[in-house]
Amino acid sequence: MINLTENLIELGKKNAAVKAVEENIKKNMIVGVGSGSTIVYAVERLGEINKEKTLNIKCIPSSFQAYQLIIQNDLQLGSLEQHSEIDIDIDGADEIDKDLNLIKGGGGCLVQEKIIASNSKELIIIVDYRKNSKMLGTNWKQGIPIEVIPMAYFPLMKKLKSIGGNPVLRMAQSKSGPLITDNGNFIIDVDFGEIDNPSELNMKFLNIPGVVDTGLFIGMCSKAYIGLEDGNVLTLAK
Ligand code: A5P
Repeated sequence: MINLTENLIELGKKNAAVKAVEENIKKNMIVGVGSGSTIVYAVERLGEINKEKTLNIKCIPSSFQAYQLIIQNDLQLGSLEQHSEIDIDIDGADEIDKDLNLIKGGGGCLVQEKIIASNSKELIIIVDYRKNSKMLGTNWKQGIPIEVIPMAYFPLMKKLKSIGGNPVLRMAQSKSGPLITDNGNFIIDVDFGEIDNPSELNMKFLNIPGVVDTGLFIGMCSKAYIGLEDGNVLTLAK
């Protein structure tokens, strides 16, 4: 049986991704490639356009998944050593607020994603309608992903609890034990309910030794494409 909601979500992801690529990617650009399920549609469209008219773009991956996607779609792979200034970074998000602040890392790739975004002139976010909120923590209920050094995870969970969060160590699927990130670290998902000051909360996290980085991307996104249930795409820009 066809699941209508799932179809609408996938359509939203695809429409947002295709529009973002078609409106923003130009010949000879250095392009950051995010991670997750929505970015797959963007890289596939990039691959198609590249076949029709050679784009000569170089793609810098934000994860092992992104690295494979770039290769599978016959796009040119680049690195931060070769291109430390990226023209446009395209990525998904778990939630986006009215100021274009983000929660990311639901797929476990936040650290490299933030490094790529921070070395990009522009971060463009592609999401479906479920991710659009006034305030972070409204729709995304799985907590803020925080990548941590494994030996610090236990005291970190206690500290995150003491500042009002509800931390959970993310476990792997199809393997016993914790999820291991592309960087060999653990992820703690910490729920703080609705977040009225994400910037302040982010600083609190970053001040705890053992935290590598957080899934709060504050003031980094300049434009977002939101695929709506009716097939249209809403564009938000700063
Ligand atoms: C990867 O860890 C994440 O930051 C993703 O960008 C984010 O979780 C969005 O993923 P989806 O596109 O699968 O929703």
